[in-house]
Amino acid sequence: MNDLSTALTTWLPHQRWFAGKGRTISGVTIERETPMAGLSHVVLRVAAGAEAGADGERYQLLLGRIEGEVPPRLAAGLIGKVDNAVLYDAVHDRDAMGALLASFAAGDAHGGLQFTCAGEVDSSLPSRVMGAEQSNTSVVYGEDLILKIFRRLQPGTNPDLEISRALAAAGSPHVAEPRGWIEAELDGETTTLALLQVFQRHATEGWAMATASVRDLFAEADLHADEVGGDFAGESERLGAATAEVHLTLREVLPSRTVGPQVAQSAARQLHSRLDEALTIVPDLERHAEALRETYDAVATLTDPIPVQRVHGDYHLGQVLRTQTGWVLLDFEGEPARPLAERTGLMSPLRDVAGMLRSYDYAARHLLAERGGDPQLAYRASEWAERNRQAFCDGYARAAGADPRADAVLLRAFELDKAVYEVVYEARNRPSWLAIPVGSIERLAGSAPGDRR
Ligand SMILES: Nc1ncnc2c1ncn2[C@@H]1O[C@H](COP(=O)(O)OP(=O)(O)O)[C@@H](O)[C@H]1O
Ligand SMILES: [Mg+2]
Repeated sequence: MNDLSTALTTWLPHQRWFAGKGRTISGVTIERETPMAGLSHVVLRVAAGAEAGADGERYQLLLGRIEGEVPPRLAAGLIGKVDNAVLYDAVHDRDAMGALLASFAAGDAHGGLQFTCAGEVDSSLPSRVMGAEQSNTSVVYGEDLILKIFRRLQPGTNPDLEISRALAAAGSPHVAEPRGWIEAELDGETTTLALLQVFQRHATEGWAMATASVRDLFAEADLHADEVGGDFAGESERLGAATAEVHLTLREVLPSRTVGPQVAQSAARQLHSRLDEALTIVPDLERHAEALRETYDAVATLTDPIPVQRVHGDYHLGQVLRTQTGWVLLDFEGEPARPLAERTGLMSPLRDVAGMLRSYDYAARHLLAERGGDPQLAYRASEWAERNRQAFCDGYARAAGADPRADAVLLRAFELDKAVYEVVYEARNRPSWLAIPVGSIERLAGSAPGDRR
């Protein structure tokens, strides 16, 4: 390993977006390095632990170099010292990020990196790095633009670019319009490295609004969810409608079809096998295995055609913004840990509905998990979750012209599948939250198909 590789081996595990946490990095290879104004664009291969495979995973890095004293503004991005120079993550460097924006405006190409500009870009805007816990890194320019730098690279067009462009071209009001993108060839395929979008000013994340509403309810011990000031159900209804409108647009402008019973059977097999895998990691789930398997078996017996299309793929309250005019959906990447081919596949839009319904359960119950299960608060959390889940489905039904709750078997199976995934995740990462998905499985698997929850 050269010195840069050594420095990265120490630095990478501390980055939120690094997927190889908990695994020992056995090698960092610099696959390509492209000098640009004020920084170097670097593609890395990281081999970590046994799961990584022979080649490891690819990441990208905007690398800055400075000799002498490091100014405080760059301190947050420090990587290490190599040959008298200090290396840092250049997303923190306003000059370098300004130069990057100028490359969009000019439609530059730097050694295989192609910048495409779609619309107006003011390259004088000052940059700041978003502080959020993210799986990628986003740089905000003034109050106008946001550049999302995809950290993990897989060859091909990133679905976030593909879907955002398709929605914007169709005139959807529920998307942050793309203003540019950076691409390069990776394994012979045009690969999206970064996406520049219109920044939504004065917007609030769905998760922040929903959890504020839950806190309001907990503070008003004598009132019900519909009586407190922070009631969220009206917003949930509008979010449901926005979700349905996005699904309708995607169905029109991107591939879609209906699939027959064989696909329902293979979907059921997949659900079973995911449960099998989860049981090896969290054997406690065995208590619910029978009820889960019954739900999955019911999927295999479905005979009606099932519509499939492009969907969001990783839908929850942290992926939606309430702007002054309505709901905007973000982050159409799907689950970044899954292979690209899977993420761009056609799926039932009920997957997204199920994802959001799970998110309502989390918003309602995560405070409870931290406060150690007060039964009075638990009752109120259930009431909040129920009210908002129904409102979301009401809004979806209104805009789609079909009620997602009518497909009770599929919707329940998708929700349970998601909850099983969450059980594994919480068992590994946040045992204090494990009660949330386990409780949902108890409620969902315990009710008869067709019940309105
Ligand atoms: N166009 C935008 N306008 C305003 N804020 C945004 C925009 N895009 C993203 N954000 C903020 O950045 C966060 C992370 O963005 P996201 O695309 O979901 O990235 P990640 O893939 O890292 O999850 C969002 O939850 C939101 O708060
Ligand atoms: Mg996101």
